Amino acid sequence: MPDFSARIIAWQRAHGRHHLPWQRSNDVYLIWLSEIMLQQTQVATVIPYFERFIERFPNVRSLAAAPIETVMQQWAGLGYYSRARNLHRCAQQIVDHQQGEFPQSADALAQLPGIGRSTGAAIAALAFGERAAILEGNVKRVLARHFGVYGYPGSAPVARVLWQCAEALLPTQQIGAYTQGLMDLGATVCTRNRPLCGQCPLAGTCVARREQTIDARPFKQKPVRAATLLVIREASGAVLLEPRRPAGIWGGLLSLPEFDAELTDPALSSAVQDRYGLRITVEDTLREIRHEFTHYVYVMRPRVARVIGAVRSADSSLRVISQSEFETAPLPSPIRRLLRQLSCTQLA
Ligand code: ADE
Repeated sequence: MPDFSARIIAWQRAHGRHHLPWQRSNDVYLIWLSEIMLQQTQVATVIPYFERFIERFPNVRSLAAAPIETVMQQWAGLGYYSRARNLHRCAQQIVDHQQGEFPQSADALAQLPGIGRSTGAAIAALAFGERAAILEGNVKRVLARHFGVYGYPGSAPVARVLWQCAEALLPTQQIGAYTQGLMDLGATVCTRNRPLCGQCPLAGTCVARREQTIDARPFKQKPVRAATLLVIREASGAVLLEPRRPAGIWGGLLSLPEFDAELTDPALSSAVQDRYGLRITVEDTLREIRHEFTHYVYVMRPRVARVIGAVRSADSSLRVISQSEFETAPLPSPIRRLLRQLSCTQLA
C-alpha cells in the first residue's frame, strides 16, 4: 500500500513535528536518548529533561563515565527508572565494546540494554535512514484502527499481525519522515480518546472509521482469562501445590492446580482423578481473585476440596505444603495471600 506511506509522509511534512530538540541533527546519541525518554513519557514532559540531560552529558562517553547516581539525579522526575539504569549500562557497553560508536542497524541496536525491537527501529530509521518498522503504542493504535485489527494489541497473535502490517507498509524512501509521521499522527490526531478524524490523512481508508468502531478498538480492556484453582487440603491443613511450567506466568513457582473455569463439580472431581489419581470432594467456593498481567487479567476462582482417597499411588507432581511453609514456599503473591487467609480461617 504505497499510498499509505505517501499520505503519512505528506502529512508529516505539513503538520508533523519538526522542531523537537533531538531533531536538530542526525546525532544518533541524541536520537537514542530521546527515544528512550519518549518510551513512556510524552514529548512536552521530555523536552526540558532532554535539554538538561544533554547539557550535563553531551555525548555517549560523558554519560558512560558518569557515576550512576549522577545519571539518576538527572532522570529524577521522569519515572520508569529502569530506563535510566539501562541507558547508563548501554552507554558503558558502547564505550567499552564498540569504541564509543553506536551500532548502525536496527537489529544490532535492539540487542542493547533498554532498546528493544521498536525503539531500535526508530533510532535506525531516524538516525541512519534504515528501512525498519516501528510499533510503539501510538503506532499500534493507528494501524489497528486503520486496518480493523481486532483484539488486544499486547497479545501475541495481534502483535504479530500488527508487526506484519508495519513491515509491509514501509516506504522505500523518506523513511525518517514516515517514521516520525506515524508517531506524530498517533500522538496528535489518532488519539486514544476522541481522535481528530477530520484532520487525518488516513480517514478515507480507515476501517474503524468506516465501521464506526473507533471506540470498540482495542487499547481499553485487557482480555480476561478465568480459571478454577483448587485448594486441595489434607486434614492437617496442608495443601497440595504443583510447580508451574517454566515458561509462562509464574514459571517455576508452586501454585494451586488450575482447571477450566467451566467445569461442574463432578467434572472437576473426575479431572483431578485423571490428572493426579486422587479422589476428592469439592466443598467450598472462595472469593474470586483478579490479578493483572501486562497482557491480560487473570481471574482465579478458588474452590476448596478435600482428599477422600487415592486410585493409584502418588505419581503426580503435587507437593504437600504444610501451613508452616506458606510464608516461605516459592508462591506467587496472590496465592500466598489466599493461603494465608485460609489458614487464619477455615483451616485453623
Ligand atoms: N514517541 C516516541 N518517539 C517519538 C518521536 N521521535 N517523536 C515523537 N514522539 C515519539
